[in-house]
Amino acid sequence: MDTATTGDLDIPADIAASLVDPVAYADDRIHDAYRWLRANNPLGIARPEKFDPFWVVTKHAHIQAISRQNDLFHNADRPTTLTNQALEERVRKITGGPNLVRSLVQMDAPDHPKYRALTQGWFMPANLGKFEGRVREIARATVQRMLDRGGACDFVEDVALGYPLHVIMEILGVPEADEPRMLKLTQELFGPQDPDTARVRDALSAEQVAVMLQAIIADFSAYFRKITENRRQNPRDDLATVIANAKIGGDYMPEHDQTSYYMIVATAGHDTTSSSTAGAIWALANDPAEFARVKANPELIPGLVDEAIRWMTPVKHFMRSATADTELGGRKIAKGDWLMLCYASGNRDEEVFEEPYRFRSDRKPNRHVAFGYGAHLCLGQYLAKLEMRILFEELLPHLKSLSLDGEVKMTQAYFVNGPKKLPIRFEVN
Ligand code: HEM
Repeated sequence: MDTATTGDLDIPADIAASLVDPVAYADDRIHDAYRWLRANNPLGIARPEKFDPFWVVTKHAHIQAISRQNDLFHNADRPTTLTNQALEERVRKITGGPNLVRSLVQMDAPDHPKYRALTQGWFMPANLGKFEGRVREIARATVQRMLDRGGACDFVEDVALGYPLHVIMEILGVPEADEPRMLKLTQELFGPQDPDTARVRDALSAEQVAVMLQAIIADFSAYFRKITENRRQNPRDDLATVIANAKIGGDYMPEHDQTSYYMIVATAGHDTTSSSTAGAIWALANDPAEFARVKANPELIPGLVDEAIRWMTPVKHFMRSATADTELGGRKIAKGDWLMLCYASGNRDEEVFEEPYRFRSDRKPNRHVAFGYGAHLCLGQYLAKLEMRILFEELLPHLKSLSLDGEVKMTQAYFVNGPKKLPIRFEVN
């Protein structure tokens, strides 16, 4: 992108700064920024200090248009998540490319469809149905633990964090004893900016972040190498067996691709599902009438689930880059330009959603883009929705009342975020 100033294309410096400020994502400032952008400059350029300039895509229609043109807008050519110049330079030195891992998210055709096809069937409703009974058992045990807390708990700590982690680890085939390690690694990987989860607690240099991320990836790699060896010798009915034995063009996947595959399955699903689950309880605790409505009409639960995913939109962005000069929304986008797809903004787009800031379990249709769109559309969307639906089916009948019991705190991160503390009070029927 030509970094010379281009007048009205540029978004104001304070808004550009908030897009790259993890703290802005922990309060409403990010939604204020998105609202201003949608109204005043829905496809503008941000030039925050220390970052390459990038287009900020805040309208639902533009997010979909970019996401569906996978040849014109690539994932793998530039960092797939917002990365400052110093960190990108470090990563390029380490890997020779813009990203530290090469999972589905960091691939384009022709590799992407081949790698995605290896597990796609596993994540389809027809296959997931066989896990429903087990997921319900895990949900019941989780609900029982919450009820045993006797009327008050931190919903994130006591329910939302552990439940989806446990489900995906069972499906993947990771033993229960290793779950805390997986949770810690995920939080460090996704929320390295949050002082509560980062390995290094002070302001981090690019050098430190790169070293930290490499260490996390090395931990994952060492862990899953053993799992691969085991599943090649003793195949089981789990997803690790599928990944360990999958072949591309007649050979096993290269080890780096394989680690990346395990990592995305082990990490992409639980923080995001936890945040959405906590989002639903937060919304219901804030609105007794909505709580009463869903409780009285359990057929609203699938709508509650979709609305919680829209309302929370835990994945705040993914990046794309243009492979050729093109035009969108009256703007000329040049080959190589970097674009930030702001899903949480698309999901509050006034042109698509009536009363976008209101939480409505009966919202229909609910065409949110929290799972992305196009060829990279979230592989785990049916699993996430199944887990959440089952948890609420098991939990809501037990609750007579629900309210907040202190301040809700959000993680400080501009990639994946959601509540990290959600104190609630509840009465049991
Ligand atoms: C991709 C969101 C749960 C696995 C994605 C993308 C988003 C997303 C926004 C990128 C889509 C795009 O670029 O168009 C979410 C949310 C979840 C969730 C909000 C929960 C509410 C899960 C679960 C899994 C999972 C449970 C299962 C392990 C993946 C994978 C990809 C992905 C493997 C990469 C797909 C590809 O690039 O082809 N997700 N996700 N996600 N998600 Fe999820």
